[in-house]
Amino acid sequence: MAYLDGIQSIENLPIENQRVFLRVDFNVPLKDGKITDDARIVEALPTIKHALERGARLVVASHLGRPKGKANPDFSLAPCGERLAELLDADVKMPEDCIGDAAKKVVFDLRGGQVCLLENLRFHAEEEKDDEGFASQLHALADMYVDDAFGAVHRAHASVHALAKLYEKRACGFLLKKEIEALGKLVTMPDKPYVAVLGGAKVSDKIEVLESLLTKIDALVIGGAMANTFLAAKGASMGASKIEGDKLALARSILDKARDAKVDVLLPVDVVVAESLDSSAGKVVDANQVPENMMALDIGPKTVDLFSKRFSAAKTVFWNGPMGLFEKPAFANGTHSVAKAMASSSAFTVVGGGDSAAAVHQMGKEIESKMGHISTGGGASLELIEGKKLPGIEVLRGGAA
Ligand code: 3PG
Repeated sequence: MAYLDGIQSIENLPIENQRVFLRVDFNVPLKDGKITDDARIVEALPTIKHALERGARLVVASHLGRPKGKANPDFSLAPCGERLAELLDADVKMPEDCIGDAAKKVVFDLRGGQVCLLENLRFHAEEEKDDEGFASQLHALADMYVDDAFGAVHRAHASVHALAKLYEKRACGFLLKKEIEALGKLVTMPDKPYVAVLGGAKVSDKIEVLESLLTKIDALVIGGAMANTFLAAKGASMGASKIEGDKLALARSILDKARDAKVDVLLPVDVVVAESLDSSAGKVVDANQVPENMMALDIGPKTVDLFSKRFSAAKTVFWNGPMGLFEKPAFANGTHSVAKAMASSSAFTVVGGGDSAAAVHQMGKEIESKMGHISTGGGASLELIEGKKLPGIEVLRGGAA
């Protein structure tokens, strides 16, 4: 079944002058109360603007961080409300809670074409428990439901699951639709050769996606700290590099499965090493000869060349996870070079969310605009790529227009 089968789009809903509950994912990174990457807000704008232009009374709701079921000002959505108001050049009302009288007062005063942003849904423990009572309280706020929170569709949480079930009129927004189309293509009919690039800290975070990808891809490119575990599994001396010692057998079994599936596995041939995570400079060594007191913190230039050649010959490239400690300029070259090589490839390029998307955003519009798709979902994009059914998507099927 195609991923969008049976799912209405916001365009089909009669939203004019109706109260529309719009679930978004405004779980943006914050530093000292300031948003450091507003991509998730910007990506929700087409749906928000569409709803407001058609005169909906728009009730926007999101989670932010993991406040563990208690109100906590550090996790307030206020900075997102302010940013949304700037981007829309309009007033965004912000009730101090997402349910109860505070929310009702603001929501019921909304006129057509006006918007409010409810306070963090996760200030209530019931949200993460998919609680029906909590969902009913949210339900009381609006006449119909639109989900545009791709980053949260893998969570069976009240606002993405129990709540959607309560509405006959339920649909996806433009962002969710775009994400499902782009990522769904990789599951159902990727153009070949298909290359997957995985990085990040741990093999253990990527086991399921690795195993599922091996049945679809032609080449698996591995970088980041997880490559250390694969290199160690092949007998390389990795010095003081971060390695998952208990995952060496798993890494070997993945390499065996890749060989049986005739998937080429590309591991780093050189790495940038330094004495500690705090070092401000590194040096390049062969990947199998990391000195005793040094750790690998990025891929080296020969590896960048090796990986880049694979992207230029590919028709589909999926990337999830940085190639090194890209937050530090001395160890960002590998991650940035992978992004540049993907951007200049003629393949359909998809950047999974999380750190790899953050790295691409860091590099600016020119690189961003050359990617086929940059997902706003971290865990959600991986689970979709694995071919899993995601609760927040499944629940939208069968909604009436
Ligand atoms: C994300 O950032 O991946 C989503 O917003 C989901 O957040 P969560 O992992 O805290 O559920």
